[in-house]
Amino acid sequence: MTAPMATRLLRADDAAIGEAVRCLTSGGLAAFPTETVYGLGADATDGRAVARLYAAKGRPAFNPLIAHVADAEAARALARFDADAARLAGTFWPGALTLVLPKAAGCAVAELATAGLDTIAVRIPNHGVAQKLLARFGKPIVAPSANRSGHVSPTLAAHVLADLGGRIDLIIDGGPTRVGVESTIVACLGEPVLLRPGGVPREAIERALGKPLAEPAAGTHDAPLAPGMLASHYAPRTPLRLDAQNVEAGEVLLAFGPLPAKGAENAAGVLNLSARGDLLEAAANLFSHLRALDGAGAKCIAVMPVPRDNLGEAINDRLQRAAAPC
Ligand code: TXA
Ligand code: MG
Repeated sequence: MTAPMATRLLRADDAAIGEAVRCLTSGGLAAFPTETVYGLGADATDGRAVARLYAAKGRPAFNPLIAHVADAEAARALARFDADAARLAGTFWPGALTLVLPKAAGCAVAELATAGLDTIAVRIPNHGVAQKLLARFGKPIVAPSANRSGHVSPTLAAHVLADLGGRIDLIIDGGPTRVGVESTIVACLGEPVLLRPGGVPREAIERALGKPLAEPAAGTHDAPLAPGMLASHYAPRTPLRLDAQNVEAGEVLLAFGPLPAKGAENAAGVLNLSARGDLLEAAANLFSHLRALDGAGAKCIAVMPVPRDNLGEAINDRLQRAAAPC
């Protein structure tokens, strides 16, 4: 066991970005806000830093990381873009879309970060702090969500501190993240395939492509399609009961929309994802409400139904994973 390190929490300003650049340059771990969720950054080209990152999260090393870059030129140094990939990058970057692409020859990202695959996940985040950090660092930064492996993703600096305090060097606090669910992941290795629903709705991607996204074929043991998408990946400790129409004794309620579930007045606690039924607002609130209700010590979290279109696909995906037994 190594002794816990002091984790510094820095307000997002130029000095903090300078500190984070120094930290990454010396092989350290710095958490920073993106528009989706907070990421835990390490120098993507430094195998030892990447190894420290896996250890800090308790993440299995067969689960590859997303390389974050500042601009399209930096992305092209890492990966090969076919016509579909170029169209998606042109339409949605910077933004909440990650592309899984064939690795470019001479790709500088450490083998460990791509778990030995010949593909790489790449994203240009749309957040001022993340963009400045990437531009000033000048190299790709691998950044998984800044939570302990298997926990709910962080949408506040306080979530990062609760999960990783004492295990990482610093956290840049840029306030709550705007989108609130992780990026959508699309593989362009042939016909484009949706690997993970996320902050860019499927409908918008299909519109940009002018064709439907293909469904993923079942991954094989040697080449899992999105290795991180294990069934119970986003699990709170408290069990979830999905599509709840009522609230039972000892339950807390995760509500959606203006009409309360039957018995809501007797719930030990109620948080509404969006009282006006807005999916954007619901996505932004999802993980912080799940964390708060998980902390209430209830027997179960009853979850009202959420529509499945647009951002609802990602919200329902995360709720289903949170409800899956470990
Ligand atoms: O919004 C996001 O994507 C956030 C922010 C910080 O950018 N990051 C994030 O990273 O959610 P992470 O590591 O928690 O999730 C990345 C997912 C994992 O499920 C991983 O298995 C998958 O991307 N992935 C990474 N590289 C891959 C590859 N080459 N092929 C297939 N899946 C890959
Ligand atoms: Mg994650």
